[in-house]
Amino acid sequence: MQLFTNPASPFCRKVEIVLHEAGKFDAIEISQVAGHPTDTGTMPITVNPIGKIPTLVRDDGPALYDSRVIARYLDSVFDTGLYPETRLWDVLTLEATGDGICDAAVLMIYEGRSRAEDKQDPAFVEAQWNKVTRALDALESRWMGLLEGPMNMGQIAVGAALGYLDFRHEARDWRTGRPALAAWFEGFSERPSIQATKPHAP
Ligand code: BEZ
Repeated sequence: MQLFTNPASPFCRKVEIVLHEAGKFDAIEISQVAGHPTDTGTMPITVNPIGKIPTLVRDDGPALYDSRVIARYLDSVFDTGLYPETRLWDVLTLEATGDGICDAAVLMIYEGRSRAEDKQDPAFVEAQWNKVTRALDALESRWMGLLEGPMNMGQIAVGAALGYLDFRHEARDWRTGRPALAAWFEGFSERPSIQATKPHAP
């Protein structure tokens, strides 16, 4: 299998964490690619018409894309146990919450990258950040039980999201007022899969 990925993308990081947790990272061919909102660059457009990453090329079928699809596929192939049946809908919603934080946080970065400074819209950027803070407050007040329980895919998505906030939005200081989430992330960050996938510029 071949994974098209980028070390700055929190969505790619989710998939890489799953592979590490499954002990299968070294069995996958890793291809680093990059693009830009207005330039597909080296994105895998021949196998993924949307031209987004992560994209996973299987040995026995068409490419898979979208981190949630790939993570479910890897779970079915490697039996990761990251989607416990008894908490499935909670785990998927927690994953969607982490992904939603990433969606908004990445859009904030793209706004700065793809528009000239005088064309950027501060109200758009702050609206995205409001989504992030609402989601972080929900995690702090309602989701700590599932975060602190056995490893699951929701934890991986939230871990990737918080790592991305530290990487690209450190000055926004997401930890203030969220002591439980901050403490959880400190412990979670010690996992070898998290250490091995720290975000960085390509
Ligand atoms: C970033 O550089 O922040 C980034 C790169 C790829 C996907 C998402 C974000």
